[in-house]
Amino acid sequence: MEFGSLMRDMFLGLLCFAVTGAASAVCDVNIDHSGVVVRFGDPVTVNCSTTREDVLGAGWESSVSPVNEPNSTTAFWNASSLTVRDAKPKCLMNFNNETELPECIFLFAPEFMKIDNGSNIKCLVLGVASAQYLAVQFYKGDDQIAGSDNVTHNGTQFPVNATITFPKNHGVNYTCTAELDFGPEAPIQNTSPPYATSTIGPGEEKLNMSSLPYTMSPKAAASPLCDVNIDPSRVVVRFGDPVTVTCSTTREDVLATGWESSVSPVNEPNSKIAVWNVSSLTVWDAEPECFINYMNEPRQCVEKLDLVIYKYPESVSLIAPEFMKIGVESNITCQVLDVAPIRYLSVKLYKGDEQLGNRSFTHNSTRFPVNESVPFPVTPTRADNGAEYTCVAELQLGPGEPIKNASLPFRMLPIDFEEQPNLTVSENVEVNKSSTVRCELKNAFPPEEVQVELLINNEIHTIRSNMDNVYVEERFTLDSVEPAVITCNVSLRSLSKSASRNVQGYVLPEPTLHTEAVLVNQTGIVTCSVDGSFPATATQRLLLNGFIVNETHNSTPAQYEFKAEKELNGKMITCETELNLAATSVKKNQITTFNVLYKPSLLSADEENVEVREGGSIVLNCSADGNPAPTYEWKYPKADNVQEITKDGVSTVNITRASSSNSGFYTCHAKNRYGDKMMNITVAVKDQVIITGGNCF
Ligand SMILES: *[C@@H]1O[C@H](CO)[C@@H](O)[C@H](O)[C@H]1NC(C)=O
Ligand SMILES: *[C@@H]1O[C@H](CO)[C@@H](O)[C@H](O)[C@H]1NC(C)=O
Ligand SMILES: *[C@@H]1O[C@H](CO)[C@@H](O)[C@H](O)[C@H]1NC(C)=O
Ligand SMILES: *[C@@H]1O[C@H](CO)[C@@H](O)[C@H](O)[C@H]1NC(C)=O
Ligand SMILES: *[C@@H]1O[C@H](CO)[C@@H](O)[C@H](O)[C@H]1NC(C)=O
Ligand SMILES: *[C@@H]1O[C@H](CO)[C@@H](O)[C@H](O)[C@H]1NC(C)=O
Ligand SMILES: *[C@@H]1O[C@H](CO)[C@@H](O)[C@H](O)[C@H]1NC(C)=O
Ligand SMILES: *[C@@H]1O[C@H](CO)[C@@H](O)[C@H](O)[C@H]1NC(C)=O
Ligand SMILES: *[C@@H]1O[C@H](CO)[C@@H](O)[C@H](O)[C@H]1NC(C)=O
Ligand SMILES: *[C@@H]1O[C@H](CO)[C@@H](O)[C@H](O)[C@H]1NC(C)=O
Ligand SMILES: *[C@@H]1O[C@H](CO)[C@@H](O)[C@H](O)[C@H]1NC(C)=O
Ligand SMILES: *[C@@H]1O[C@H](CO)[C@@H](O)[C@H](O)[C@H]1NC(C)=O
Repeated sequence: MEFGSLMRDMFLGLLCFAVTGAASAVCDVNIDHSGVVVRFGDPVTVNCSTTREDVLGAGWESSVSPVNEPNSTTAFWNASSLTVRDAKPKCLMNFNNETELPECIFLFAPEFMKIDNGSNIKCLVLGVASAQYLAVQFYKGDDQIAGSDNVTHNGTQFPVNATITFPKNHGVNYTCTAELDFGPEAPIQNTSPPYATSTIGPGEEKLNMSSLPYTMSPKAAASPLCDVNIDPSRVVVRFGDPVTVTCSTTREDVLATGWESSVSPVNEPNSKIAVWNVSSLTVWDAEPECFINYMNEPRQCVEKLDLVIYKYPESVSLIAPEFMKIGVESNITCQVLDVAPIRYLSVKLYKGDEQLGNRSFTHNSTRFPVNESVPFPVTPTRADNGAEYTCVAELQLGPGEPIKNASLPFRMLPIDFEEQPNLTVSENVEVNKSSTVRCELKNAFPPEEVQVELLINNEIHTIRSNMDNVYVEERFTLDSVEPAVITCNVSLRSLSKSASRNVQGYVLPEPTLHTEAVLVNQTGIVTCSVDGSFPATATQRLLLNGFIVNETHNSTPAQYEFKAEKELNGKMITCETELNLAATSVKKNQITTFNVLYKPSLLSADEENVEVREGGSIVLNCSADGNPAPTYEWKYPKADNVQEITKDGVSTVNITRASSSNSGFYTCHAKNRYGDKMMNITVAVKDQVIITGGNCF
């Protein structure tokens, strides 16, 4: 190179770096002598500056006098004698709130595209900082169909349009790529997910519009060259505890290493290591990130610390309704207070050792401590009586056993107290007579806890505290006709139910039936009466063979006049008294039989002639009807072989081994107070005739 030649080819490059954030701002980098011309060997001074506040550092990259000014908005490239042609100085600015990576790429297309018709599809690139380095391309399969050499943009969004003619052959993927090209080093590229076409009907094609954004993972793109080691890689720390994490790199071209965090940020210029050290971590959203700035690409690497700040659930309680009803769904609520982070929390309900429910909050990214109330629906059965339920809160912060806390056990004492008590008692009960009242409670559980109280006119009659069969049956007596209220109160723990019945007492004396014996063919009278003083409303009735023959009211006796016929004797007559009460009536009765007096009459013929062989037997019967029952008297030739027996209204004379002396008249005399009747029987005893076989004499 000859003396005095000019370094016309000197190029002042610009680079702008950002650390975080999607919000993008233009690279505001100003070089005060843009396009410097300097004579070989002459001194040169170029200032590079920015007006932005969020500067992490400024510097110059060059083979000659590189510069690194951390925390500075300006950097001077200063060479006292420039004797290197390919100095290639580039100004570097690190900003705090930008990303240069195209964060998301969306591909938009009309839902329906007509075959062989042109349609517009659009590629949208979001979150790009250094717009001047961006290139956007459309691909159909592997063929590029459009680019973005001259895209208009406003710094954050890069809509790129491409008009494509929809082809007949379906199944082609359309993709859009965004590329940031900073030079000969590997460009940073981001590609949209492909869109394939599929047939939906004749003549029309549909583009699969799963317009999900493709989000580039900056770490994945940068990792081969980003050498960031965080030790320990995952930190689980209890709120308030100390924490120490080291971030380091093995790369040599380090400008600075540091931690960005709302708590104890660290910036270590020219250091390959930065320690994030907090003596007591009391900030929930610390979110520390290690950043390392390098001289060469990639110029900045950022790695987020996998940090879990937790708070042990000090309070776990189980809340159950006062009464858990058998067969009815209720909630048992597990309440966990002041726990973090809930994405690692599981709330479980146990019955004994059996897990009944589990609720976790995996998708809740809240870092702050929260209170959680988790209801578990439980429908108790009788078998659950006495079972112990427990709520358990578990924080699974990493591999291994979770941190647990459990509520006090809850003893399930379910009840069944749904049915109403059934109180059974007559509406009308007789005064001074014992009556029965029964109070039953069906399906009550547990029966031994049921208490029952029977009251008569608010006076306690019975208290039973263990309703074995869940019913109570008692006898009671009313001592007046005043209406009484019978109440059955049943209770189980603090629940109670009641049933009441009105009971009306009544008084009804026994009726008196009066009748006398009547001679046949005379007139008789039957009287049915009640004690005249009481009660005036009763009805007296006389019934003959079930048919009413007379009825009177208001204490008037009922009378029945009859002609005494023999047939009436012994027939039943009923005297009934009936009292009509509000809803029913009560009856009492007396029964007697007619007594018709008549003289005897023979039931057989009054004359008879009988024969008996000598030595034979004969029985003579005499029977008569009369009231009073007739008595019998026999007259006949007395002998030892004759027996007289009267039984069941029949009088008999029994002659055995008859002899001639038994021949004669036998007279039976049947009589009562009102007359008599005679029966005459003539008995002849015949000689025995002996018949011999063979010859006749
Ligand atoms: C991000 O950069 C823009 C543009 O320079 C600036 O206006 C804004 O204040 C910065 N934000 C932060 C949080 O530094
Ligand atoms: C950067 O500047 C801030 C605020 O001026 C200061 O707190 C910090 O210590 C500086 N860092 C370095 C590395 O100089
Ligand atoms: C960019 O603009 C030039 C001239 O205005 C034009 O010829 C070229 O086709 C455009 N490129 C694209 C991809 O639209
Ligand atoms: C860029 O344009 C998009 C769409 O027009 C708009 O939503 C966004 O706010 C604009 N950004 C700026 C920084 O003007
Ligand atoms: C892309 O196309 C839409 C309509 O399809 C139009 O509104 C928009 O201006 C176009 N953008 C560019 C950058 O050509
Ligand atoms: C389109 O892309 C999808 C997803 O990457 C792929 O499975 C499919 O094979 C591609 N189709 C064609 C025709 O390249
Ligand atoms: C149990 O809790 C859930 C959620 O709060 C509620 O929807 C449900 O009605 C509750 N069930 C009962 C029986 O109270
Ligand atoms: C996370 O849980 C908290 C506490 O229950 C609640 O307030 C918040 O809405 C939840 N967030 C989401 C995204 O579900
Ligand atoms: C009440 O009890 C009585 C007998 O004790 C019974 O006949 C009746 O059916 C019961 N009623 C109900 C509703 O259970
Ligand atoms: C009763 O009277 C009837 C006629 O009225 C008569 O035939 C009968 O003999 C009488 N009976 C007696 C026992 O007097
Ligand atoms: C019913 O008895 C009453 C006396 O109590 C009497 O006056 C009346 O005649 C009797 N009626 C009949 C049909 O016997
Ligand atoms: C008659 O008397 C004899 C001897 O006492 C006896 O065996 C027989 O049963 C009697 N007959 C009747 C009908 O009483």
